[in-house]
Amino acid sequence: MTAASDLIASAKQYTLSVYRQRELVLERGQGAHVWDTEGREYIDLAAGIAVCGLGHHDPDLTAALIEQAGKLWHTSNIFYSEPPLRLAQELVEASRFASRAFLCNSGAEANEAAIKLVRKWAAGQGRAPERRVIVTFRGSFHGRTLATVTATAQPKYQEGYEPLPGGFRYVDFNDLAQLEAAMAGGDVAAVMLEPVQGEGGVLPAAPGYLKGVEALCRQHDALLVLDEIQCGMGRTGELFAHWQDGVTPDIVTLAKALGGGFPIGAMLVGPKVAEVMQFGAHGTTFGGNPLGAAVARVALAKLGSPQIAANVVRQSQALRAALARLDGELQLFAEVRGRGLMLGAVLRPAYAGQAAAILDACAAHGLLLLQAGPDVLRFVPALNLTDEELAEGLTRLEAALRDWLAAR
Ligand SMILES: Cc1ncc(COP(=O)(O)O)c(C=O)c1O
Repeated sequence: MTAASDLIASAKQYTLSVYRQRELVLERGQGAHVWDTEGREYIDLAAGIAVCGLGHHDPDLTAALIEQAGKLWHTSNIFYSEPPLRLAQELVEASRFASRAFLCNSGAEANEAAIKLVRKWAAGQGRAPERRVIVTFRGSFHGRTLATVTATAQPKYQEGYEPLPGGFRYVDFNDLAQLEAAMAGGDVAAVMLEPVQGEGGVLPAAPGYLKGVEALCRQHDALLVLDEIQCGMGRTGELFAHWQDGVTPDIVTLAKALGGGFPIGAMLVGPKVAEVMQFGAHGTTFGGNPLGAAVARVALAKLGSPQIAANVVRQSQALRAALARLDGELQLFAEVRGRGLMLGAVLRPAYAGQAAAILDACAAHGLLLLQAGPDVLRFVPALNLTDEELAEGLTRLEAALRDWLAAR
């Protein structure tokens, strides 16, 4: 057996079978290139599900990690250490709305904190438990903990985990009238949504939609909670996706690209709710770990730079143009949607359900890509993607699509 097949066999025997991994073992990366244990090279337009915003092996992130690793790995939150304190300040200052930050380890944990904060805030206002409803949106994705999977208004993630926590109500995304009706009873404490739905199919909020949601929240004294775990940290061409919508949230959650590949999450809270959680109200052992925080400080500085913003806009246009050209020749896509470098190519009805098969063909041609549901090819590459990397990725995409179509 080869080393790779050995490792894959071991994974199949000893790890919980919750993932459908591709049959390759990745070993190292550089920029948008990765290599597997067999020495095969790939162009990575997935970036670890929108995580490696600066590509693989960014020298500045690596240097920050190594420097901090030589000093102090962990303190718990019983003692102060400098990296998380600086990171919290830098996130708050960069955010244009937040007063405080809570650092944690993942997206689900950031959203769990947000859900708890909403409930605590509503409780503090004297609202009875049944009047602390959180409205979320069909097609959303907020995580896999019991509360965040309940916020995730997609039955496929919830089935079998009942009883689910109460106090959530679901409406259709981009339908303001439905949200208005859902809030009419005055029992809604918060509306929680992704400015661009990721897992649900790369679906951006329609122009003006978030403004409408914000207005309803203000009218009903409900909090506006934005999950920017996938669409934040520069991915849409702005550091925060909601800047493009002109709204001021009460809470924003971050993770994924925040650590450039090192696990870290954050909840940012605005002045209205900054004092809601006091001593003992919430906590985490690893959140704000000095290693992750040291890396995230550098990631934040780089991802918030004008150079990254400009590159996102430029490469987004190039990718869209290339997908339009490909569609012109192959008639594969019903539409290409998204913002910045978070793009979804929606398969035409004739190819419905084929995204996974197309991804297999891409991997065989040396291209790592994602799907967002069965019908959407998802492009969430590194935000510092170079012209050469994109061109090579597109060459491989075209070859994979042509081969896949020919083999049907
Ligand atoms: C929008 C959004 N929220 C939350 C999460 C959950 O993050 P994590 O997997 O780090 O818990 C994800 C993960 O895909 C996500 O895309």
